[in-house]
Amino acid sequence: MAFLKRNKKVSEEPRILPKHIGIIMDGNGRWAKKRKLPRSAGHNAGGKVFRTITRYCSDIGIKYLTVYAFSTENWKRPKEEVDALMKLFKDYLEEALTDFKEDSIVVRFIGDKTPFSDDLKALMIENEEGSKDRNGMVLNIAMNYGSRDEIVRAVKNISERVKNGEYDIDSIDEDLISDNLYTAGQPDPDLIIRPSGEYRISNFLLWQSAYTEFVIMNKLWPDFKKEDLDEAINIFNKRNRRFGGV
Ligand code: IPE
Ligand code: IPE
Ligand code: MG
Repeated sequence: MAFLKRNKKVSEEPRILPKHIGIIMDGNGRWAKKRKLPRSAGHNAGGKVFRTITRYCSDIGIKYLTVYAFSTENWKRPKEEVDALMKLFKDYLEEALTDFKEDSIVVRFIGDKTPFSDDLKALMIENEEGSKDRNGMVLNIAMNYGSRDEIVRAVKNISERVKNGEYDIDSIDEDLISDNLYTAGQPDPDLIIRPSGEYRISNFLLWQSAYTEFVIMNKLWPDFKKEDLDEAINIFNKRNRRFGGV
């Protein structure tokens, strides 16, 4: 593989822009630990990076960005940390509607909203409703998202409709399953980036990532820069996607 020059802006060279990028925003806790700070300080720092990178993706012409903010498994964390995250989400969502307005970003939440507080649920709905007529990048924020949970829900929905006679079993196909996921109507991610050096998917977009290119980066999310996103896109451009063909 050719040497990738750091800081080289992707816009300086011919490239294919991924239409849909997924980011597993990981490493906040380790970032805080390195600085002897509470884990919540890492989440706050990660929240700032999220804003910068979201705006950057919109600026360079990415059409869909899906960020993993909180998994169905993250409820296992100490109550103190979960509470700090909920507070961060609430503070953030209070500003999000105006924050992304000039970029015309459409905000969507993927995941099950049920366990969130009424305040937080109301803010999530307000952000979705208030941004739905915009025409810019679609930003999916995965909150209480787990891909297995998403697939279980799809199976239940489809089964219910089969039971009602709306479909017969033979009409169940891949498109029908895709149409029953939170990401219905959106293209599958072309590129998923995981900072923090972990080589795993952690229940993110399992169905949708069948042919996604993965780029693992040895940087903690709060240290992630626009240049790192450029580098991930450069790496993506050097991949040979075959989709099972030759
Ligand atoms: C990701 O960072 C943020 C969330 C899961 C909410 P982590 O909190 O997982 O950070 P590490 O992996 O412990 O460093
Ligand atoms: C995945 O990171 C979830 C988010 C980034 C929101 P985790 O830190 O929860 O994943 P594991 O535990 O390392 O697999
Ligand atoms: Mg982690």
